[in-house]
Amino acid sequence: VLATYLKAPPSGEGSADFPSLRQPLPEGHGLAGRTPMEVMAACNPPEGGSFNNKFVIIGCGTSNHAALVAEYLIEHIARIPVEVQYASEYRYRKPLVRPGDVLFVVSNSGETSDAVESLRLVRKCTNGQKVLIIGVVNEADSTIAKESDAFISVLAGKEMGVASTKVFSSTILTFTLLAIALGECTKNFTEAHKTALLEAVRALPGSVQEVLDRDTKIFKSHESRLEIGECVLWDIACQNVLANNFIFLGRGFCFPVALEGAMKIKELAYIHAEGYPAAEMKHGPIALIDQFMSVVVIAPKCDPSYEKIKSNIEETKARSGNIIAITEYQNDDLETLCQHVIKTPPAHEYTMPLLAVIEMQLLACMMGMLRGNEVDQPRGLQKTITGQ
Ligand code: G6P
Repeated sequence: VLATYLKAPPSGEGSADFPSLRQPLPEGHGLAGRTPMEVMAACNPPEGGSFNNKFVIIGCGTSNHAALVAEYLIEHIARIPVEVQYASEYRYRKPLVRPGDVLFVVSNSGETSDAVESLRLVRKCTNGQKVLIIGVVNEADSTIAKESDAFISVLAGKEMGVASTKVFSSTILTFTLLAIALGECTKNFTEAHKTALLEAVRALPGSVQEVLDRDTKIFKSHESRLEIGECVLWDIACQNVLANNFIFLGRGFCFPVALEGAMKIKELAYIHAEGYPAAEMKHGPIALIDQFMSVVVIAPKCDPSYEKIKSNIEETKARSGNIIAITEYQNDDLETLCQHVIKTPPAHEYTMPLLAVIEMQLLACMMGMLRGNEVDQPRGLQKTITGQ
């Protein structure tokens, strides 16, 4: 994804590009003559004034969670209003889209029927006029790619497991680069901000590799004989294998990762799990916390609300919850508060979801394996839901 969409000029500063979004829309389209990029950027006119238009991003399952990260990215970087909806709900609503709005249909397969039908509903109710529809897919030959006005391929390669993993990362990375490109157009992005973010994006492949090398030792050891502490995730999986419930907490950019972590535990380990914005724990979940509740808290120091997350951890500790925290290597704050601390390489607030989610995916995978589950083909799940 990086190599394709991030073109670095000789200055080394870098800029994100999407050739398919820079082709003028064809004759007959209500927005003919304008490029998708121009239509998108016009949702936040550089001359200021009120916002006239918005982005609506729809998707199901993991694609919906990736859309939620995209919402934060686009609002922060390009300052364009974004609304995220489940495609399964959207297709039965009376969508309020106006001329100039942009609908993103996020779907790995490009075939999920709720996403396809939502796209067709918007086409029908806007009579094909002046609403731009962009597919964000992994399958370039799919229905959504074909029926959209333009599509972006997230270039993740074939995903074999039924539960989506690497497509989540590629979709978020694609939206990060798109937000940067839009931020340049809407001029809401200082040079310093852009340079720092691009640097963080370029550091990602190395950081992801580091996490994978460290955490996947267990899969390479045929006898599965790792010393205690050699793989923190494996220790956590062994100690929680009989857990009946998990709560996942995160804030800001990592809130959708909490939702995704909970989904992965359900899909692969068949354990009940809920994801919440950390501050919402006071409004219900706190009543469930005792020594039998495993609470995973995504608590990176790069998050400006870190101190608040730490106080959520303290509240959980006061109720004897079994706390598993995720934070950066250089943060030693949490060891005394938590049963386990998973450490990641440092990252930018906007790129941290891409590291944190890998820990969530691997933890769910290890727990599923320990429970004897078929993690690539979980029971009752399908890779693509094309029926009603
Ligand atoms: C199924 C898969 C999930 C996936 C969802 C949406 O439920 O098991 O992994 O996230 O469909 O699929 P899509 O292809 O539209 O992204």
